[in-house]
Amino acid sequence: MSELVLYYTFGGATQKEAVALAAQRGAALCEVFPQKPYSFLGSFLRGSYGARHRKAVPLQPLNETLADFDVIHIGCPIWGGYPAPVFNSVVGLLPPHKKVELFFCSARGESPKSSAGTRALVEARGCTVASYRDIRTEAAPSKQKK
Ligand SMILES: Cc1cc2nc3c(=O)[nH]c(=O)nc-3n(C[C@H](O)[C@H](O)[C@H](O)COP(=O)(O)O)c2cc1C
Repeated sequence: MSELVLYYTFGGATQKEAVALAAQRGAALCEVFPQKPYSFLGSFLRGSYGARHRKAVPLQPLNETLADFDVIHIGCPIWGGYPAPVFNSVVGLLPPHKKVELFFCSARGESPKSSAGTRALVEARGCTVASYRDIRTEAAPSKQKK
């Protein structure tokens, strides 16, 4: 089975996970770039708003052809509780009948507001969601002793 790890990263954490996953699975690796990069402030304003409203953004052309792969992993950061808008654009490119494995990086390591809807978006493309993983990228604050 040929596998592809597609990912978007803003700060590098999702890239780290994607690189490790691709090496572990012997998969091809492809970073996805929005045509208009986000500034730090823009990620919180335009980015989080778009994420919460499941907006897609125009992408730069991909370096891989999705139809060539049996399994497509998609990794993306969580913004405002939802996958960053690039994720919605990637879902729009999915050919039907693919096995899709999702992983989401977030500070808290959870995405309860969006996970069911995110799976449904992928399934609406005629694909199967084989796995959904939340990855915590920031350590929990340590409890201070008085
Ligand atoms: C605009 C913005 C919104 C974020 N919203 C959330 C959030 O709702 N929940 C959360 O746990 N982390 C949130 N984070 C933290 C990121 O999801 C987390 O740092 C992630 O690992 C970043 O991945 P990256 O380095 O690949 O961009 C947010 C970060 C940014 C920049």
